[in-house]
Amino acid sequence: MSNLLTELYHVLQPWTYYLLFGFVLLLILQKYGVSHIQPWFFAKIYNPWLTIYHVKLRAMKQKHFDSMKNHVSADPALRKKGALRILEIGPGPGFNFEFFPPKSELTVVEVNPFFEEQFFEKQSEHPHIKMDRFVVGFAEDMKGVPDNSIDIVVSTMVLCSVRDIDKALKEIHRVLAPGGKYYYWEHIREYQYSWVLFIQHLLTLTIHGYIFRCSLVNRSDELIKANKCGFSSVEQQRFRTPLGPGIDKLAIFHSAHAKGIATK
Ligand SMILES: C[S@@+](CC[C@H](N)C(=O)[O-])C[C@H]1O[C@@H](n2cnc3c(N)ncnc32)[C@H](O)[C@@H]1O
Repeated sequence: MSNLLTELYHVLQPWTYYLLFGFVLLLILQKYGVSHIQPWFFAKIYNPWLTIYHVKLRAMKQKHFDSMKNHVSADPALRKKGALRILEIGPGPGFNFEFFPPKSELTVVEVNPFFEEQFFEKQSEHPHIKMDRFVVGFAEDMKGVPDNSIDIVVSTMVLCSVRDIDKALKEIHRVLAPGGKYYYWEHIREYQYSWVLFIQHLLTLTIHGYIFRCSLVNRSDELIKANKCGFSSVEQQRFRTPLGPGIDKLAIFHSAHAKGIATK
């Protein structure tokens, strides 16, 4: 642990004043109602920052989503075409396009409009996916999406930012057709090392919570497992993302994950 903290100190030390200045500026801007600064900034830095994560975990994610290709649509017209209707919540810049089966018809609900341009740029690399709608809105309130209309709902690293996870799960259950599946892949609060959990709390209360609006101590795995909205089954595994050498060891604060498939 002390090695890791020394490394963290050496990496952050030259940036201390810039980080402090940025943090204070963000607090002032938020206080005076310039509320679009955080989503704009987040959308700017997210793609380059998270590309490494997605490249590193691509094979694991591919395996997780693989069974989607065997799912049969509840909609007779789509079934005839061998297509699926997919709803992705919080797609950000669209890292998950590559995992969706050909001919999928995709609706997304994304709260941050600054991701829209990057998302459609990524979509142009995946012409096998048909875009139905890009809705700017909250997963907790998807009133534009009819009941029982979706074959597959997907979320990856979204529930950490959702304000009311139970409400979002209720909405996911509502829009899924009977037999429809919810595929999730979420980072969760540390379940093994108490010192990591302590730092996760500190980061969530300060920089991480303010700049990324993300809770490192979210219990999304437990809430899905509690199954208050009545999925017929929930298959879930906890896992850890691998830590690389050097600075990549800092990923320990983001390493506890859960993935699963909940069936309506
Ligand atoms: C950490 S990013 C994950 C992006 C992408 N799913 C990925 O795996 O890289 C979280 C995303 O969820 C979106 N988001 C946060 N809260 C949301 C909510 N309540 N409803 C819908 N999207 C939300 C954010 O705007 C952001 O695009």
